[in-house]
Amino acid sequence: MNKILYPSQLEYLKSMQAEPDEIIVELEEFAAKNNVPILSKDSAKFLEILITLMQPKRVLELGTAIAYSSIRIARCLGKKGIVHTIEKSEDNIRAAKENIAKASLQNKIILFEGNAFDIMPKLDKKYDFIFLDADKSDYKRLFDYSMILLKKDGIIFVDNLLWKGYTASSKVPSEYRLSTKIIREFNKIFISQKNLKTTILPVGDGIGLGIKL
Ligand SMILES: C[S@@+](CC[C@H](N)C(=O)[O-])C[C@H]1O[C@@H](n2cnc3c(N)ncnc32)[C@H](O)[C@@H]1O
Repeated sequence: MNKILYPSQLEYLKSMQAEPDEIIVELEEFAAKNNVPILSKDSAKFLEILITLMQPKRVLELGTAIAYSSIRIARCLGKKGIVHTIEKSEDNIRAAKENIAKASLQNKIILFEGNAFDIMPKLDKKYDFIFLDADKSDYKRLFDYSMILLKKDGIIFVDNLLWKGYTASSKVPSEYRLSTKIIREFNKIFISQKNLKTTILPVGDGIGLGIKL
């Protein structure tokens, strides 16, 4: 069997994707400098392609951080499309607000401030697309809420299911053991959902993709 996923191939593919957008480059640099975890570039591109293809009217994002992915999603939406995004960290909320304003997307991105556990039960309208990207220890509960809020034929997109490679590795550093165990358990639950058609793709840090049946 040919092995195509060597680091050199991944580097080659990355080098082909120069980012022409100034705000996006600025946010990537800010995130790298300040250790803010954001979607990898290849996952972000994949997310943009899905959003462009599907043209969801209502997107829910769990975990805004500095609004990097919110901005990338919002720019691919049609006229009537909107992103609702939830963030609990005050520092990130401040940065996200500034970045949303800088990108002139205040009319496309609605930022809910607080813990998704408190906010999600208050959301009454369903969503066409849900992006789960919060604390890994919160994934299972946020996923359960997401299933209630996702429309039939809607898509759920979950980041970090390969967790830097540790979910598929027998050698896990001690500081990642608990989070790896949590994601491994989540992956089993995700992949065996009866009401979702799912897959986990080796894109970026591992993307879980599911369509609600
Ligand atoms: C990985 S970052 C999100 C990155 C962002 N989606 C992007 O790609 O640009 C995760 C964010 O989720 C927030 N978060 C984690 N758990 C949360 C929860 N239960 N409710 C609200 N925000 C949460 C964290 O504060 C952090 O800013």
